[in-house]
Amino acid sequence: MKALLLAGGNGSRLLPITLGVSKQLLPVYDKPMIYYPLSVLILAGIREIMIISTPQDIGRYQHLLGDGSRFGVSLLYKIQEEPKGIAEAFILGKDFIGEAPVCLILGDNIFYGLDFSEKLEKVVERTKLGEKGTIFGYTVNNPERYGVIEFDHDGIARSIEEKPKNPKSNCAVVGLYFYPNEVVDIAKKVKPSKRGEIEISAINNHFLKARRLLVETLDKGFTWLDTGTPESLLEAGQFIETIEKRQGIKVGCLEEVAFQKGYITKVQILNCASQIKGTSYGQYLEKKYGK
Ligand code: TTP
Repeated sequence: MKALLLAGGNGSRLLPITLGVSKQLLPVYDKPMIYYPLSVLILAGIREIMIISTPQDIGRYQHLLGDGSRFGVSLLYKIQEEPKGIAEAFILGKDFIGEAPVCLILGDNIFYGLDFSEKLEKVVERTKLGEKGTIFGYTVNNPERYGVIEFDHDGIARSIEEKPKNPKSNCAVVGLYFYPNEVVDIAKKVKPSKRGEIEISAINNHFLKARRLLVETLDKGFTWLDTGTPESLLEAGQFIETIEKRQGIKVGCLEEVAFQKGYITKVQILNCASQIKGTSYGQYLEKKYGK
């Protein structure tokens, strides 16, 4: 399984902040936003990852994350010349994806919940069989901002509407998608929508129609945050601060997740920690893995 991490876009709802800096580099409490979705991919056991961003920002991501060896994964970088839509990722990533099934995650999405690792590993294994894709639904009170799932009387997902004015449910599609390899060919055939984007909802509707898409719901105990507006960015930072301070853990700590997966050693963790000595992040790693 290969993964694409989308870290481009306009970031127009965060202007003027995003005039000077890419959205997914902004801090969410104590680490850059992109750490959170990248940690999800590592947690899922996906080790070949392509990061996609704008011509002006791609170098900053390379500087931040390097070739991924610090986290036991392989990172490649690809430019998206213009934000032509989320599903363009599959076209940009075509050669990298090759014959493999593929996961796509949005760089401004944060996931936090119990047993997520097991859930992800199950979905990865299922997607590898090549028959069905999986998306995740989450109940929100502002569904009109997202792709919204329409269910039939039996609770089976029927279609997905992108940012509807009159949403047919409160169930939003989150920014984490798993597909069999055909997604690349399907993406090539998707025509741009009225707003000029190659829509991920078009891909999902295609798989739904063919009865090849599973919709898993993330329950109320699970937290899904997107960070695209000033309010949601601040709230996400406050959420992470509360969890980390209260529980003495770190969310989205790449070195820690890589160690838990067995991809890097304690010595490598401590090496990373020594480079950010004196910060709460560095101290956390030293304290937890120092002996
Ligand atoms: P959006 O939040 O839909 O768009 P945006 O990030 O450009 O923000 P705004 O609506 O405020 O202008 O994008 C979701 C994620 O996908 C985000 O991480 C950016 C990324 N993205 C791309 O990398 N390329 C694209 O062409 C699009 C549309 C989004």
